[in-house]
Amino acid sequence: MIIDPEQIALAAQHIREGRLVAFPTETVYGLGADALNPMAVARIFELKERPTFDPLIVHIADLKDIARLTTGNDPRVALLAERFWPGPLTIVLPKSDLVPDLVTSGLGTVGIRMPNHPIALELIRSSGCPLAAPSANKFGQLSPTRARHVEKQLPDVDFLLDGGSTTVGIESTIISLNTEGFEILRHGVITREEIEDLIPYHALPASEKDNIVSPGMLKSHYSPNKPLYILAVGEQPTRPTDRAGLLSYSGRHTEGYKLVEMLAENGDLKTCAVNLFAAIHRLEESDVELIYAEAVPETGIGIAIMDKLRKAAYRYGNKE
Ligand code: TXA
Ligand code: MG
Repeated sequence: MIIDPEQIALAAQHIREGRLVAFPTETVYGLGADALNPMAVARIFELKERPTFDPLIVHIADLKDIARLTTGNDPRVALLAERFWPGPLTIVLPKSDLVPDLVTSGLGTVGIRMPNHPIALELIRSSGCPLAAPSANKFGQLSPTRARHVEKQLPDVDFLLDGGSTTVGIESTIISLNTEGFEILRHGVITREEIEDLIPYHALPASEKDNIVSPGMLKSHYSPNKPLYILAVGEQPTRPTDRAGLLSYSGRHTEGYKLVEMLAENGDLKTCAVNLFAAIHRLEESDVELIYAEAVPETGIGIAIMDKLRKAAYRYGNKE
C-alpha cells in the first residue's frame, strides 16, 4: 500500500482545523473529526444524517490516550489491548470529562479503538488528537470498504484518503466490561471465544444496563437500496430469480439468477466478511431488482455476518 505523507499531512491539517476526513481502517472507512472538538463532531452527525443519540467510537494511536479519555484504570483494558490492538475491537469504558457529550450521545461511557491500518494510525498521530469516527456512510446504509463507496454516499466530505480495499470488511466487535466480565454489544470478526480466552463472558440483565438504545443494535441497518431477502439453508426463493442477484456462500443453487456474487470460493467465513459489503455494493449498483442472500453458518465470524444480513433484510420482512 502506498502511503503518501503529503496527503496525510494535508488530511491532518483538515482535522486540526475542525473539518472532516474520510480515511481507511482495516474494517471499513471512517468519517473522522477531532474527537475533542464538539463543533467538528457535530459536522459528522450532519454530513452522515445520523441521529445524535447514536454515539461515536474514538480512535487512538497510542495507549497513553486511554488514561486521558476514560476513567477507572481497569487492568483488563491493558490485557485486551495487548492481545487485540491495533485491531477490530472497540471497548466501551467510563468516559473522562475531556470527551465531549456529543461524541457519546450523553452516555457516561465512550467506545475506544486502536485501528490496525497504517494510514489511520498515521492520520491520528499527525493530527495530534484522537479521532471520533463512525463508518463513512449515510446513516443506516451500507458501510464503505473502498474509497469509491465513500464518494458515492458522502460526496461533500472535506477530504478523502484512499487506502484501497479494507482487509477485514466488517465493523469492529464492540464490547463493554462489567464487574464479572465482558458483554458483546456488536458482533465482529473478533469472536466471543477469542475474548473469553482472557476475560469471562458475562451479560448483564437488561435492568442493569444503560437504557439508552445502542444503535449498533438497531434492527434495521446496513440497508442496500434494493430489497434483500435471506435464504435459509435449502430454502427455495419464492420470487422470480431472473431479475434477482444472489449473494452466495456455498456456490450451490446459483442457476437462474441474473447476477451471482460469491462471498468466498472455499466457504471461509473470514473471506466472506471481507467481501460482504463490497459484494452488496456491487449488487446495489447492478441492474438486479432484488437480492437473495444465502445464510451462512452461525458460528464464529458467521454470527457477525448473519447479524449484518438480518439488519439489511429487516425492512423487507427479514426473510421469506
Ligand atoms: O470498525 C468500526 O468500528 C468502524 C471503523 C470506522 O472504526 N466504526 C464504526 O462506527 O462502525 P459506527 O459509528 O458506524 O458504529 C459505532 C457503534 C454505534 O452504532 C454505537 O451504537 C456504538 O458503536 N457505540 C459507540 N459508543 C458507544 C457507547 N459508549 N456505548 C454503547 N455503544 C456505543
Ligand atoms: Mg456504521
